[in-house]
Amino acid sequence: MSKRALVTGAGGFIGHHLVKYLVDRGYWVRGVDVKEPEYEWTSAHEFELLDLRRRDNCLVACQGIDEVYHLAADMGGIGYITAVHAEITSNNVLINTHMLEAASRAKVERYFYSSSACIYPAYLQDSADITPLKEADAMPAEPEEGYGWEKLFTEKLCQYYKEDHGLEVRIARFHNAYGPFGTYDGGKEKAPAAISRKVALIQDGDDIEVWGDGQQTRSFMYIDDCVEGIYRITQSSVSEPLNLGSDRMVTVDELVDIIANAAGKTVRKQHDLTKPQGVRGRNSDNSKLADLLSWEPSVTLEEGLAITYRWIESQLAAEGRISQPAKVG
Ligand SMILES: NC(=O)c1ccc[n+]([C@@H]2O[C@H](COP(=O)([O-])OP(=O)(O)OC[C@H]3O[C@@H](n4cnc5c(N)ncnc54)[C@H](O)[C@@H]3O)[C@@H](O)[C@H]2O)c1
Repeated sequence: MSKRALVTGAGGFIGHHLVKYLVDRGYWVRGVDVKEPEYEWTSAHEFELLDLRRRDNCLVACQGIDEVYHLAADMGGIGYITAVHAEITSNNVLINTHMLEAASRAKVERYFYSSSACIYPAYLQDSADITPLKEADAMPAEPEEGYGWEKLFTEKLCQYYKEDHGLEVRIARFHNAYGPFGTYDGGKEKAPAAISRKVALIQDGDDIEVWGDGQQTRSFMYIDDCVEGIYRITQSSVSEPLNLGSDRMVTVDELVDIIANAAGKTVRKQHDLTKPQGVRGRNSDNSKLADLLSWEPSVTLEEGLAITYRWIESQLAAEGRISQPAKVG
């Protein structure tokens, strides 16, 4: 009989891809979210609209489930998570505490929790040329206000549920996932999608607005690597948090250049220093992941961003905001 998986946040970016991945592997999948997927219908066998801030809904979601992949969260790009601390933190505390309790009561075999690189201390990320962050760097803590504090708290709560109730928890700290079917407009989009949209909307040689001075650094992981990593971590025997990200660090200006190249456009960058840019530098140290799983993300930024750019461009064309792009290849 096929295993039964619950994917929370199945109406969101990573959850949508993970549902497909698990269905392809032969799982029976229940997807849960407060909203339906925005751009393409889900491949889940069952999809329920449930608000997971309520414990009764979490109990319903976990019923009859073998493996929980918990991705639901109130989140967005740097503009969003730096603007609304109280709401994000309290929503996520409710979702995460109720989900852990419900999964524990349902006696699920595995519980995957999606944490974030935002749990790492600001004092280790104050220069662009940063030392990649190791898992042990999380303490002493100085995470991102709101969103990061809540993720760190929930990592601890996962550990306590393992110690006190034997729940088999698995935790990944994602570093910037991107790809098709991610939000690209409206305020919750992240840098790769926002820049792709801006580049798609201009004529060759025009200006785009870039947040900050463009010298802030990050690493970016393509969605196929992200879902593969989630699955491998969940099936592993490692219950402490693991980084899941690319360890190729680029500046935001370099990110713009790679996207402009994928678009075949020359872009002039207008830096806006009044916009939030988050920590100055951040990169993932993958040595623990590679040691323990003999695997790490491998899709190059050039490959991943070219696919993502084409998808966003075709979305904008379908919305009538640009003319239909010429077919490539
Ligand atoms: N995308 C990244 O780069 C990244 C980085 C670090 C961590 N993460 C974490 O990975 C997970 C998935 O992220 P994503 O990029 O797919 O985000 P997303 O916003 O696309 O998906 C999250 C989903 O959770 C749903 N949700 C929010 N509140 C809910 C509620 N009360 N009940 C039920 N569903 C609710 C949203 O509707 C959304 O569809 C999140 O936990 C996020 O914090 C993502």
